Amino acid sequence: MTDADPTYDVVVWGATGVAGRFTAEYLTERYGPEELSLAVGGRNRGKLDALVSDLARRGDAWDDVPVVVGDATDPESLRAIARDARVVCTTVGPYTKYGSPLVEACVETGTDYCDLTGEVNWTREMVDRFHEAAVDAGARIVHGCGFDSVPADIGTLLVQSFASEAFDEPCETVRIYLEGGSGGVSGGTLASFGELFEAAATDPLARETLRNPYSLAPSGERSGVDPGAQRWPRTDPLRGGWTAPSPMAAVNERVVRRSNALLGYPWGREFRCTEVVPTGEGLGGAAAAGLVAGGLGAFTAAMSVGPVRSALRRYAFPDPGEGPTREEAENGHFRIRVLGRGTAADGSFTVEAEFGADRDPGYGATARMLGESAVCLARDEVDSPFDGGVLTPASGIGLPLAERLREVGFTASAGDAAESER
Ligand SMILES: NC(=O)c1ccc[n+]([C@@H]2O[C@H](COP(=O)([O-])OP(=O)(O)OC[C@H]3O[C@@H](n4cnc5c(N)ncnc54)[C@H](OP(=O)(O)O)[C@@H]3O)[C@@H](O)[C@H]2O)c1
Repeated sequence: MTDADPTYDVVVWGATGVAGRFTAEYLTERYGPEELSLAVGGRNRGKLDALVSDLARRGDAWDDVPVVVGDATDPESLRAIARDARVVCTTVGPYTKYGSPLVEACVETGTDYCDLTGEVNWTREMVDRFHEAAVDAGARIVHGCGFDSVPADIGTLLVQSFASEAFDEPCETVRIYLEGGSGGVSGGTLASFGELFEAAATDPLARETLRNPYSLAPSGERSGVDPGAQRWPRTDPLRGGWTAPSPMAAVNERVVRRSNALLGYPWGREFRCTEVVPTGEGLGGAAAAGLVAGGLGAFTAAMSVGPVRSALRRYAFPDPGEGPTREEAENGHFRIRVLGRGTAADGSFTVEAEFGADRDPGYGATARMLGESAVCLARDEVDSPFDGGVLTPASGIGLPLAERLREVGFTASAGDAAESER
């Protein structure tokens, strides 16, 4: 953090977009101006003024919300914004396209930072370019503070913390099950998918990042026992029944492995982590797993072909700025279960965590996950050994984030699976 007292606790940068607007709305509903000094930022003063009028109309407490204006392509404007903030919380994406200068500005000014990126190629670039400098500057750069990757990363941390306390041993294996969910998708999210596939087609570092399951681990530690994300339907070794590949595994598994590595391997160097979609028992479960795997495979194949990718981006995807309505974002739901298996002196044990909320995972729930990540950083309410670095939610913020999310209606808890079966 900076030595001088910054003007704002949190700047929501990109507040005129879909996810940024939900985050600003959430923070102004949850906190009053006397509790949180907040500003909204973006490139378009007119849109920001309209947003501020709307925020003031919606909540009694906020007569006004300060506005900061800059441009993602103008480093000087970003440095000025970062200098004025304890935490910059950014939804300006695709991050591959717009994100790097802001990370650089936060590192230069020693400002904490959180975002919503699932662009694993870009996270890898930030790790390589800025981790050491962020450590030296005392800037906590926490990527992936939305649906990817808070439930998977903090869910795993919940499981491992419970295991270490109850059984004196961490789990050797963790499986993350995307059990259910309903929600929408925005043009900004699909544009980010587009950038990821574009990078995979054109950038060798992005290809290497997507190939290596340990690509987000620190340099020199990018190998291990995990074979990488499941690609086909498979029966589940922990629970039985069928599972399909998860669309978010490529991001979440790597983030969880980075957490383990950054924290100094408290879960062991042989720790394994997989994320899957459970589809049920028997023939029906197998058929559903085949359908999910087939759909995902077809989407990946289509997005990997340049002309098809361009056509989809141009004609089929919604434009940036389009996305779920507020009503849609506040409905929806998601449920993630994390099962950890370990071995203690008196035999094997299984720990289970549940992480979920009754809101659209990518928008209503993500606004809360990102907003509360920013508040944790701004108030230094973290359980983390790091004052700076390119971090994950589990390594940079830790369980205080789960605590805050529980307070706003999330399920986020872990226990002994044997006891919960009784
Ligand atoms: N992890 C998750 O669960 C999750 C969930 C939702 C979104 N996301 C990610 O969050 C990002 C944003 O998504 P979204 O749907 O909110 O996108 P969006 O609606 O397109 O919003 C993008 C924001 O970036 C701003 N922007 C664009 N170019 C800029 C520039 N040069 N300088 C300053 N600001 C600029 C836009 O400003 P204008 O309004 O002026 O155009 C807008 O405020 C995407 O990368 C998406 O993948 C992740």
